Amino acid sequence: MTFALPSVYLLLTIIYLCALKSDYMFNKRVKIKDLLAAEPKNEEVIVMGWVRTFRNNQFIALNDGSTNNNLQVVVELGLFDEALLKRITTSASLKVTGEVVASLGKGQKLEVKARSIEILGDSDGEKYPLQPKKHSLEFLREKAHLRFRTNTFSAVFRVRHSLAFAVHKFYNDKGFVYLHTPIITASDAEGAGEMFKVTTLPFDNAPKNEDGSINFKEDFFGRATNLTVSGQLEGELAATALSEIYTFGPTFRAENSNTARHLAEFWMIEPEMAFYDLEDNMNLAEEFIKYLIRHAIENNKDDLEFLAQRLDEEEKQKPQAERSEMGLMEKLEFVINNNFERITYTEAIDILIASPAFKKKKFKYDVKWGIDMQSEHERYLVEKHFKKPVIVTGYPKEIKAFYMRQNDDGKTVAAMDILAPGIGEMVGGSQREERLEKLEERMREMHIPVEEMWWYLDTRRFGTVPHAGFGLGFERMVQFVTGMTNIRDVIAFPRTPKNAEF
Ligand code: 4AD
Ligand code: MG
Repeated sequence: MTFALPSVYLLLTIIYLCALKSDYMFNKRVKIKDLLAAEPKNEEVIVMGWVRTFRNNQFIALNDGSTNNNLQVVVELGLFDEALLKRITTSASLKVTGEVVASLGKGQKLEVKARSIEILGDSDGEKYPLQPKKHSLEFLREKAHLRFRTNTFSAVFRVRHSLAFAVHKFYNDKGFVYLHTPIITASDAEGAGEMFKVTTLPFDNAPKNEDGSINFKEDFFGRATNLTVSGQLEGELAATALSEIYTFGPTFRAENSNTARHLAEFWMIEPEMAFYDLEDNMNLAEEFIKYLIRHAIENNKDDLEFLAQRLDEEEKQKPQAERSEMGLMEKLEFVINNNFERITYTEAIDILIASPAFKKKKFKYDVKWGIDMQSEHERYLVEKHFKKPVIVTGYPKEIKAFYMRQNDDGKTVAAMDILAPGIGEMVGGSQREERLEKLEERMREMHIPVEEMWWYLDTRRFGTVPHAGFGLGFERMVQFVTGMTNIRDVIAFPRTPKNAEF
């Protein structure tokens, strides 16, 4: 027993080293993106990926997701078995070892002359749901598990990644603290009642109170809870100590909006800053959006150019009058090089009332002071009138959340929404009500449970400060940068009314 133990250790060490070594060997693969960027030096490389096409039993277009550009693998006639060649079908996965040589073909400077080809996974061409042809985005939504394998979606998800990375870089470089706020919460931050309940109580036999209501005291948390609609309230708690924080996480809204801009589960970035007023808040939001766009232009040029071309083709299908005036790249450059327009809600309503669209009764919804602008109104302002992003401030208090700072006119609050062409509302934010009495009064008016929110109100009781923040809808930002028209096409597995597939 005593000397058996060391030999067990020795055996385990040998197994571990072998695993390390073989792992290392397997991963000696070169990524296709890096390979294509290098000069052909006739060295031997290992590449792995999925077959996009196999032409003339000779040319394999291999893709590994690092770029939309395929690597051409040349199969010399007679060098490989017929049986093996038959298995090189669309979406089969391969490990290819071969020599990197200058290419004679058009559109590529190098290719790999295969010395050995190993099929890692077969793919039955008859059954594979995606054919090497153009599929509609609607069709691909039904095949969301495989759509990463198309040029459009691999480009979208690389850009999405890049933007997410840039979010952290932007705030980190400014010294903001990244705060993880809870997903499960007992509060409704927006007070709009659009929450998904979280419970472990049985649906068919929930414990009841005497009055017939459900007894949440017996639930997992001993109270009713829901998925968060926003991390803002917790963000304010941290900002009133750490000064500047941001959150970046999933948020959930049970709003039954089946549109190209709404998801039931979406990602939001919510910075919250002590000692900021509304003006500082707007400046930060504008700088942030421009930073993200610039980051994508600098780091995702190939993908954006591909997406720009895709959008051009989509636009060509539309009647002339509905086509956008700028291509994707042009639009992005325009946005980073021009100031956002800043107007008040009252000015926005005046513009709408004076518009030909209003006079000719082209709007479906009425326009008058006090309305919650519909997307047709927002789109008119940004796409027809200003033709650039617009920041609207000073909304009527009736249509905004309880926490927004009340203006002296008694009618409006220090809110700001950023509206973007093709997207509508991209950012919603405000300066917060830091005056305890005013806040409590507004909460009572809006039937927000003041006692339950004691922890939130404590920030106003103990060293309250002017502070502000906003929320950027991440998918709407990704839509804006990639030019994808439907929000379902910029999140991997969209959650929308009547749909939670995959
Ligand atoms: O305007 P909202 O509701 O604001 C808030 O949640 C505040 N707590 C933010 C803050 O001040 N910290 O949402 C902010 C943004 C919207 O402007 C929009 O871009 C996005 O979140 N958004 C949605 N995106 C996709 N699907 C939905 N259902 C969305 N609802 C809001
Ligand atoms: Mg909003």
